[in-house]
Amino acid sequence: MLIGMPQGAAATAVDSNGKDGGGGANPTSTARPAAALPLKLLRPLLLLAVLGTGFLAVVVLFLGGPTYSAMLPRLSLAPDAVLPAPASAGKAPLDRWKRAPASAWHNMTDEELLWAASWRPSVRRYPYRRTPKVAFMFLTRGPLPLAPLWDRFFAGAGDAALFSVYVHATPGYRHDFPPASAFHRRFVPSQVAEWGKASMLDAERRLLANALLDPANELFVLLSESCIPLYGFPAVYSYLTRSRASFVGAFDDPGPAGRGRYRAGLAPEVRREQFRKGAQWFELDRELAVDVVADERYYPKFREHCRPPCYVDEHYLPTALSIEAPARIANRSVTWVDWSRGGAHPATFAGKDVDEAFLKRLTAAPAKQNCTYNGQPSEVCFLFARKFAPSTLRPLLRLAPKLLGYG
Ligand SMILES: *[C@@H]1O[C@H](CO)[C@@H](O)[C@H](O)[C@H]1NC(C)=O
Ligand SMILES: *[C@@H]1O[C@H](CO)[C@@H](O)[C@H](O)[C@H]1NC(C)=O
Ligand SMILES: *[C@@H]1O[C@H](CO)[C@@H](O)[C@H](O)[C@H]1NC(C)=O
Repeated sequence: MLIGMPQGAAATAVDSNGKDGGGGANPTSTARPAAALPLKLLRPLLLLAVLGTGFLAVVVLFLGGPTYSAMLPRLSLAPDAVLPAPASAGKAPLDRWKRAPASAWHNMTDEELLWAASWRPSVRRYPYRRTPKVAFMFLTRGPLPLAPLWDRFFAGAGDAALFSVYVHATPGYRHDFPPASAFHRRFVPSQVAEWGKASMLDAERRLLANALLDPANELFVLLSESCIPLYGFPAVYSYLTRSRASFVGAFDDPGPAGRGRYRAGLAPEVRREQFRKGAQWFELDRELAVDVVADERYYPKFREHCRPPCYVDEHYLPTALSIEAPARIANRSVTWVDWSRGGAHPATFAGKDVDEAFLKRLTAAPAKQNCTYNGQPSEVCFLFARKFAPSTLRPLLRLAPKLLGYG
C-alpha cells in the first residue's frame, strides 16, 4: 500500500491531465501539416509532464522516506539539497523491508503495533534469498523454569538465523537471562492476560504482531512456560517448514462443551453449525498470522459475545480459520497434552513422573493418534508437549540427549 498509494494517485493525476490534453489535440489534427503536429501534441504533453513531476515531487517530499528519496536521482525531480538525507544513507533501500527490529522491546501501542504488523507484500516471490525463520512465542505468567531445556534445543539449530524467540509475561515481571540465552532481551511489551478471557487472545495477537515485525519469520508457534520440545531443532524445523498446512486444532463438537457454547451474538458472521473448538496452542504460517492480527470481522464479535461458557481462546481461531481458510489448516495441534486423567484441566507432570519409560511413551503416543501430514499417514503427530512442572527440568535435561535428540 505504501508504494501502491502514491503510484495509484500519480496515475490518476496523469489520466485526468491526459484527458484534457486529448481534448485539445483532437483527431482532426492528423490531417494538418506534419510540422504542426509535434508542437500541438507537445503542449499538453509538457503540461502533463510538469504536473506529473510536481505531483511526484510533492509525494516524495511529503512522505520523505528513504525509498522515495532513493527514487529521485533516477527521475531527477529535484535538486538533492531540497531533500533531507535518508536516515539509512549508504544502505540499500530494500534493507528497510528485510530488516528485523533491533529489539523486541518498543513503545508502540497495541493499535500501532497491530497496524504495523498487518502489512504484507502483494508480490509473493521474495526478490532476495530469504531463509524462513520459526518464531517461538511464549505466553507466560513470567518465569520460564524450563528455559535451560529450550536453550539446549535452540543450540541444536546451529544457526541463529533459523528461529526467533518472543516472550509475553505479566507486565512488570523482571527477567534476567544471560546474553548466551535465546531468551535474552526477547520479552515484548505486555498487558495482563487472564485465562479464559479475551485478554488472553489479545496477548496471543500481541505476540503474533511482535513476531510479524521481523520479515524473516515465516512460521509462528504459540507455547507456554510448561511446554517442552519432543525432538531436536532440525526435525522440528523441517516438519514445520515442509508442511502444507498450519497446525491449528479445529473440530466440531455438537455437545454442550462445543456448539452448546455458541452465542447468538456471533451471527451473522458465525452460524451455530460453523462454530468450532480447538486447543489454544497453534502454529500459523505468515499469511494466516497477518490475517489474524488484521481480523476486524470475527475478532470484535468474539470479544464482545464469546463470554463464559464460551472461551475466546478455545473457539475464536478454530472457528474463524475453519470459515476463512479451511484448506490451509490441518485441524490438529502439534502440541500434545494429556487429558486422560479427566477433569477441566489436563495433567501436569512432575519430576517424579519423568523417566525413560515415560519419555519413550511420550514420543510413541503420537503413533496412536492416526494423524496425517501433507495428506499421508504420519508417525509423528506432535512436536511439543505440555504440561511440565519446574521439577521436571532436572530429569529432562538428563534424558533429553538420549530420548529427545537434543541437549
Ligand atoms: C517512543 O520512543 C521514541 C524513541 O525511542 C520516542 O521518540 C517517542 O517519543 C516515544 N513515544 C512514546 C509515545 O513514548
Ligand atoms: C480441515 O477441516 C476442513 C473443514 O473444516 C476441511 O475442509 C479440510 O480439508 C481439513 N484439513 C485437513 C488437512 O484435513
Ligand atoms: C486409524 O487409521 C486407519 C486407517 O486409516 C483406520 O482403519 C483406523 O480405524 C484408525 N484408527 C483410529 C483409532 O482412528
